[in-house]
Amino acid sequence: MIIAIDGPAASGKGTLGKRLAHHYHFRHLDTGVIYRAVAKAVLDDGAAIDDETAALAAAMELDPEKFGDPVLKTQGIGDAASVVSAFPRVREALVSFQRQFAAEPPGAVLDGRDIGTVICPDADVKIFVVADPVVRARRRTLEARARGEDADEALVLADILKRDERDRNRPVAPLKPASDAHLLDNSHLDIEGGVRAAIAIVEAVRAGRQRV
Ligand code: C5P
Repeated sequence: MIIAIDGPAASGKGTLGKRLAHHYHFRHLDTGVIYRAVAKAVLDDGAAIDDETAALAAAMELDPEKFGDPVLKTQGIGDAASVVSAFPRVREALVSFQRQFAAEPPGAVLDGRDIGTVICPDADVKIFVVADPVVRARRRTLEARARGEDADEALVLADILKRDERDRNRPVAPLKPASDAHLLDNSHLDIEGGVRAAIAIVEAVRAGRQRV
């Protein structure tokens, strides 16, 4: 079974996907980390973040061992990730890694922006997670401060809006719900509430399938 979690509010540190995967004993991949790792590799090489050739080289040399680097979680790297992720050849180079991950038993939860539309269009359950940008800015600011970063909520909000806009309007794999995705608005839900709502969606889809 493959569960695709997409949407502007899909990741939030990967918590929802991680929790869902834990609940079902599935494997979990926060695909935002992949684009973040590519962005960091480009910057580490001293290349400009909009250097497509450097980004493609970094994507082809992707090293999952580095996915745990705490620097990947920072706002700056997230912003840089949204630049490299708009390059079609970079996205293409990362497709097979994600599909292979999804295909391995016993099942997988992948979260990102294009899992239900491009990476796993046949996913068993697709959830599109949204939240009020003001609420997301508040959460990201608190997360950043908890990591010891200096975060200004107004700047975080501006960054979120800019990044969403870039993700929505790119020509390849834009951020949009798959036609068969279930919408989950977690603006007024805490982490537990979001996880419960996601499990309820998965169970409803499973129950519906058994009836057929
Ligand atoms: O989800 P996260 O904030 O870690 O993602 C960082 C950036 O990576 C996003 O803003 C988006 O541009 C890009 N991304 C993507 N496709 C995915 C996951 C992330 O384009 N599947």
